[in-house]
Amino acid sequence: MSALNELAKEISLCRDCELCRQRTHVVPGEGREEAKLLFIGEAPGWHEDQQGRPFVGPAGHFLDQLLASIGLKREEVYIANVIKCRPPGNRDPSPLEMKACRKWLDRQMELIKPKVVVTLGRYSLAQFFPGESISKVRGTSRKKQGTIYFAMYHPAAALHQASLRQVIEEDIRKVPSLLAQAEEIKEAEPAPQQLSMF
Ligand code: URA
Repeated sequence: MSALNELAKEISLCRDCELCRQRTHVVPGEGREEAKLLFIGEAPGWHEDQQGRPFVGPAGHFLDQLLASIGLKREEVYIANVIKCRPPGNRDPSPLEMKACRKWLDRQMELIKPKVVVTLGRYSLAQFFPGESISKVRGTSRKKQGTIYFAMYHPAAALHQASLRQVIEEDIRKVPSLLAQAEEIKEAEPAPQQLSMF
């Protein structure tokens, strides 16, 4: 079994916060182990909780369309969430839940070593750039320790607010050039200096 699958198994046994009491399935994430592109959403919803897979409901269908628009299938990228268990009633994740779950995302990232991380929505953005406003930084990228971070609205935002669909569709089109740019980043880039494009 691969290290990432072993980790998913470990995540599925987690009981480190209250969300473990009401979940049907843990949703560790899925995709290609050597993915260059990692999408990070917020938390599983009802459909994801039922199936144990990320982004399989209406927001997931839109994410699939967005990926297709840049010539990618979900099997070619990795898709994960900040929180691995569904908050009841799809409420926002609490700071305690995010803190308890953070270690899993960190370990997933250590194994996948993505070149480009796309944060979907404000909770995902906040994991890497706390205090940033999604409406200000969406559609922009930032390089941090050899990885490019690109901020987007959450796909579900387009389902609630039709005007955001076009914004999201435009933003995803920037991803291929970020991937090309990431290929040029040397492995041993000097640490935490930030080249801000936000
Ligand atoms: N929304 C998310 O943030 N993640 C999912 O997996 C599904 C919907």
